[in-house]
Formats: sequence, C-alpha cells, structure tokens
Amino acid sequence: MTARLVVLISGGGSNLAALIEACSDPGYGAQVVAVGADRASAGGLELARAAGIPTFVQSVKAHPTREEWDVALAADIAEHQPDLVISAGFLKLTGPAFMERFGDRYINTHNSLLPSFPGIHGPRDALEYGVRITGATLFFVDSGVDTGQIIAQVAVPVELDDTEETLTERIKVAERRQLVEYTGRLVREGWTISARKVLIGVVPTR
Ligand code: GRF
Repeated sequence: MTARLVVLISGGGSNLAALIEACSDPGYGAQVVAVGADRASAGGLELARAAGIPTFVQSVKAHPTREEWDVALAADIAEHQPDLVISAGFLKLTGPAFMERFGDRYINTHNSLLPSFPGIHGPRDALEYGVRITGATLFFVDSGVDTGQIIAQVAVPVELDDTEETLTERIKVAERRQLVEYTGRLVREGWTISARKVLIGVVPTR
C-alpha cells in the first residue's frame, strides 16, 4: 500500500522537493497527494504544480477568525485522506479542529536541536547563543510550539565564520535527508509512541 502524504509549506519548498523526489521510487512507499500553503506566494506551490500535484491555499487573513481558518485548513486536508500530514516549513500553528482530525499523524521538521531554539528563528538563535553544534529535529506535533515527541535528530556543526544564511543552508541539507529517511520509515514500518519515545516498527496492538 502506498501511503498518502499531504505536505504543508510556507516557503520555497526544498524539503517538499526532496520528498517528491523520494516518492518517485515505488519502493519508498509514499506519494505526495496534495500540497497546502498558508500563502499564495509560497514558492513550493509552483514546484508542486509542476509535478502535477494538487495544491490548496488557506491564508489566515481570508477568514474572520483563526478558528475558522483552522476548520477550513482541516477540511482541505481531509479531502485528500492523508496517512501522514507533514509540515515542511509551514509557519502556522494549527488549532483544535486540525489537531482533532490529524493530531495522531502530523509531523514537523524544525531547524534546531529541540528543545533548544524553538520558534521561527532556529539558526539565528543558535548563532546568537554561540552553540558549536546545532541541527534539525523531526517530531510529532502537539499543541505546544515545537514541543512534541521527537522522531529523529541530526547534529550539524556551527562554524566560527557562519552567518545566518550559511548555517541555515548547512542545516537544510541534513534536515532534508532526515525528513526523507524517517518519513519513509514511518509509513513503511508504522510506529507507536510510549512515554515520549517514538518507536518505529512497533505497531500498536488493537
Ligand atoms: C526548514 O529549514 C524548516 O526547518 C524551517 O523552514 C525551512 C523550510 O524550508 N521551519 P523549505 O521551504 O523546505 O525550503
């Protein structure tokens, strides 16, 4: 069975591109069935269209309240019946309607070693703090900001002459590899979560 992935983006979509490429191998076990964004300007939307993947946009501003945006976003995603929803640079926190439907299968990739440097400026904050090692974290999203159960982490060195840009790019290389590897493993092997530990290949007994 090929797992159905819905990928959410806000930016250029380099992580999305890596996932689309991985999915071109039938042995990978997954397919990107839709790409959603919170802004029409997200560069990754074009990338998805070029690959023939359906897209949708739900911007918070287009709705009277954030709750209504959340309901609309969840409805768009539900149409594509995802096995896994992946935030790949999606810069919005989803709300209760979304989490009720997809909270058990929503993962996010973040560009720091959590719990250090949560939020949208991971590389900048790591640089300002002066850490010598940072990295990327893949995790199941919960209702907090970057606080969910960790699936995998990868370490990336900080060089003394790094700028925010050079560090961000170095992290992205490792981050993409990790996202592709672990998304594939999750969908092929299944998982269970116990005491904050994500156990891949251990499927819950029913
Ligand atoms: C990733 O590094 C992610 O950690 C951060 O935004 C970046 C998304 O980049 N939140 P892209 O749009 O996949 O190129």
